[in-house]
Amino acid sequence: MRIIICDNYYEMSKKAAILVASQVNMNPRSVLGLATGSTPEGMYSILINMYNNKEVDFSEVTTFNLDEYFPISKSNSQSYDFFMKKHLFSHINVPETNINIPNGEACDAEKECEEYEKKIDAFGGIDLQILGIGQNGHIGFNEPDEFLFSNTHKTDLTESTISANSRFFASADEVPKNALTMGMATILKAKKIVLLASGKSKHDAISKLVSGKITTSCPATMLNMHKDLVVICDKEAYHG
Ligand code: GLP
Repeated sequence: MRIIICDNYYEMSKKAAILVASQVNMNPRSVLGLATGSTPEGMYSILINMYNNKEVDFSEVTTFNLDEYFPISKSNSQSYDFFMKKHLFSHINVPETNINIPNGEACDAEKECEEYEKKIDAFGGIDLQILGIGQNGHIGFNEPDEFLFSNTHKTDLTESTISANSRFFASADEVPKNALTMGMATILKAKKIVLLASGKSKHDAISKLVSGKITTSCPATMLNMHKDLVVICDKEAYHG
């Protein structure tokens, strides 16, 4: 694991954006794994600037998002489909047909997950996976538990995540109770992983991750099994 400790949120976002742009510049047909949440918003906004300045071109890139609430309509402003359009896709030239997000409107969630996993494999896997981290150490929507599903699956959200994510909804009751998410094995198959963390609320989870121990009660720690993981965090997330 390589850990980059940044002075602030902007520096973290800038470093991450440069890594993504370099990946795309080295391989214009890169397969990117993308994340939602407030943490990567700054990185997306810098990537949009880089695209506008012709420093990076997304025309041949394919993207797979980590997760989506379930059920949720794509037009719901809190869906991850809506988030990605608002914060990235509607500002860059990635073709719509190259964008993949688990379908929160699917009638058959299991079939959707199985097909999503197969599609990632059919593209030869993810070249660079961007991750955020939940306060309880969740990754995507892989929540702390005794057992975790390995591949893309439908999952329940914990009370802690419902409460943390309720800030985006009118009330906690409106947060969907389920989600579709890549599993930890799906994520660990990515060739490179870049995890972003900002702020004190992430300190506990980051401490467990950098301890080097592995437990399903903090899914982020499973990333210790990956051979090419870069953690980019600010001082508050690192030092608490
Ligand atoms: C959500 C997402 C995660 C994300 C996490 C942290 O639950 N499913 O992928 O990492 O929130 O979000 P934030 O960056 O807003 O703290």
